[in-house]
Amino acid sequence: METGNTPAEFPLLDATRAFLAKPKKMLIGGEWSEAATGRVLDVLNPANATLLARVPEADATDVQQAVAAARRAFDQGPWRSMKTTDRERLLLKLADLVEANARELAEIESLDNGKSVLVAQGLDVAMAAQCFRYMAGWATKIEGSVIDAGIPYMPDSEVFSYTRKEPVGVVGAIIPWNFPLLMAAWKIAPALATGCTVVLKPAEDTPLSALRLGELIQEAGYPAGVVNIVTGYGHTAGAALASHPQIDKIAFTGSTQTGKLIGHAALDNMTRMSLELGGKSPVIVLPDVDVDRAAAGVANAIFFNQGQVCTAGSRVYIHDKVFDQVIEGVAKIAQSMKLGPGMDPATQIGPLVSAKQRERVCGYIESGFAEGARGVAGGKRLECPGYFVEPTVLVDTNHTMKVVREEIFGPVLVAMPFSDIDTAVQLANDTPYGLGASIWSNDLSAIHKLIPRIHAGTVWVNCHSLLDNALPFGGMKQSGFGRELGRAVIDQYTESKSVMMNYA
Ligand code: NAI
Ligand code: MG
Repeated sequence: METGNTPAEFPLLDATRAFLAKPKKMLIGGEWSEAATGRVLDVLNPANATLLARVPEADATDVQQAVAAARRAFDQGPWRSMKTTDRERLLLKLADLVEANARELAEIESLDNGKSVLVAQGLDVAMAAQCFRYMAGWATKIEGSVIDAGIPYMPDSEVFSYTRKEPVGVVGAIIPWNFPLLMAAWKIAPALATGCTVVLKPAEDTPLSALRLGELIQEAGYPAGVVNIVTGYGHTAGAALASHPQIDKIAFTGSTQTGKLIGHAALDNMTRMSLELGGKSPVIVLPDVDVDRAAAGVANAIFFNQGQVCTAGSRVYIHDKVFDQVIEGVAKIAQSMKLGPGMDPATQIGPLVSAKQRERVCGYIESGFAEGARGVAGGKRLECPGYFVEPTVLVDTNHTMKVVREEIFGPVLVAMPFSDIDTAVQLANDTPYGLGASIWSNDLSAIHKLIPRIHAGTVWVNCHSLLDNALPFGGMKQSGFGRELGRAVIDQYTESKSVMMNYA
C-alpha cells in the first residue's frame, strides 16, 4: 500500500499552483478582503498533513459585513430588477466557466479534501457545472397561478386573483467538506435562479474550491454583493450567519447535531430553512441477486468518497441465502482497494478529510470490536502522516451497537443477515435517519412492494447514491427537511405572494 506521497509527485496545472500560492481572501460586496481581525486558518492536505494554504478566519464582524452586502445587493442593487433572461445567461456563463476550469477545480478539490482527482473532475465539478446550467433553466420558468376566487360572503364581488413567486431574499448557506464545490453549487445555483443573494460559508476543512468559484463568479460578471463567501469556523462564523436577523433563509448541509443548532437559531428569527442532515442508509440485498454484481454494488455504496457521503450505504441487510457469498465478495473488494493520495489516478480510497475525522472513524471501529463485531476486512488506520483508514467490513453486528446506530461517515460497513422481508423492513427503518436506501434485486414485485415501506427521501434500485439535478433530494426523520434540486428546490428559495384585485 503506497501512501504519504507528496503532491509534487503528481503534476499540477500551473493554474492550480498559482491559485495555491497566492494569498487567499474572502469575497464580500464584490471585493476580496481579509478577516477584520487579520486572523487566518490553516488548510491542510489530508494525504500528507502538510499545509496547503491559509484562508481568512472570519468572525461575526466579517459575517455582518457580508450579510449587509448581500442585503444591499438584494434590496437596492441591479440584481433585483435584472430580467430573468439575464439571470439565466449569467448562470449559463458560470456553468461554462466551471467547465472551462474543470481540471484546476478538481485538483484543488482533491488536494483540499483528499478525494480522487478523477472523481472530483468527473462528478463534483461536472455536476456543479450542470447544476448551474440546470438551475439557469428555472430562472425563466418560475410561475404563479391565476385563481378563480369565490368569496362566499361577498356574492357580488368581482376579483382577479393570482399568486406570484418572489425570491425569499438573502440566503445564508452553510456547507460541509465532503463535496465542497458541489454543495456550494447546490445552494448558490437555485438562489441565483430565483433572484436571491447569498452569503456562503464553506467548511473550515475545505474552503479552497469555494474561493476559486468566487473568482469565477466575479469573472462571469455578477453584480457586487450577489454572492459573498466568508471562510471561518462553524461555531463562530457559521453561528453568526445562522442567527443573523437579516438573513431570510438558511440552507444547510451537515451533521444532524449542527443542523439542530442552526434550526433553533433560525427559528428565533423565523428565518426559512432547509436542512440536509446525516444518514445511516440501509442497503437491502434480496435472495435472487447476482452475487458478484450485488457485492460490487454494496462495496461502492459504502466506500465511494471514503464513505464520507451523507447517503452512504453504511448498513447492509443481506438475505441469509446469499449472505456469506455477498460478504465474501465485499470483503475481497475492500481488501483489494488501493489506498493513496487523491492526486494519484490509481487511488481507489483516499485519506479522510481531517485528523479529527480519522479519530472519529477509528473510534467507531474500536467501539464495534469492543461490542463484539468481527472484522472481515480492514479495521485499521495506516501509520503514515496522511489520514488513511482501511475500508472496513464488520459482521456479527446488531442494532444495540453504536456502529449500527450512529453515522460514522467513513469507509465502515456493518452487515446483518435477514430471513424474511418484514424483518428486513423493520431493521432498515430502525434508525433515527431517513435519507437514502437501496434495494438489490430483479424481483419486480418484491421491489415495488418494498419501496413504499422504506422511510427514506430516496430509494435506489440496483444502484446507490446516484444523483441528478432534476430529481429532488432530501431526508425524512432526523435527516432533515426540505428538498434540494429539481423543481422542488424553487419553492425553498421563493415566497408565494397572493394578490386580489377588486374590479367590481
Ligand atoms: P458539521 O455539521 O458540524 O459541519 C458542517 C458545516 O457546519 C461546516 O461548514 C461547519 O463549519 C458548520 N458549523 C459547525 N458548527 C456550526 C454552528 N454551531 N453554527 C453554524 N454552523 C456550524 O460537521 P463536522 O463537524 O465537520 O463533521 C462531524 C460529523 O458530521 C461527521 O463525522 C459526519 O457524521 C457528519 N457530517 C455529515 C454530513 C452530511 O452531509 N450528512 C457532512 C459533514 C459531516
Ligand atoms: Mg483540507
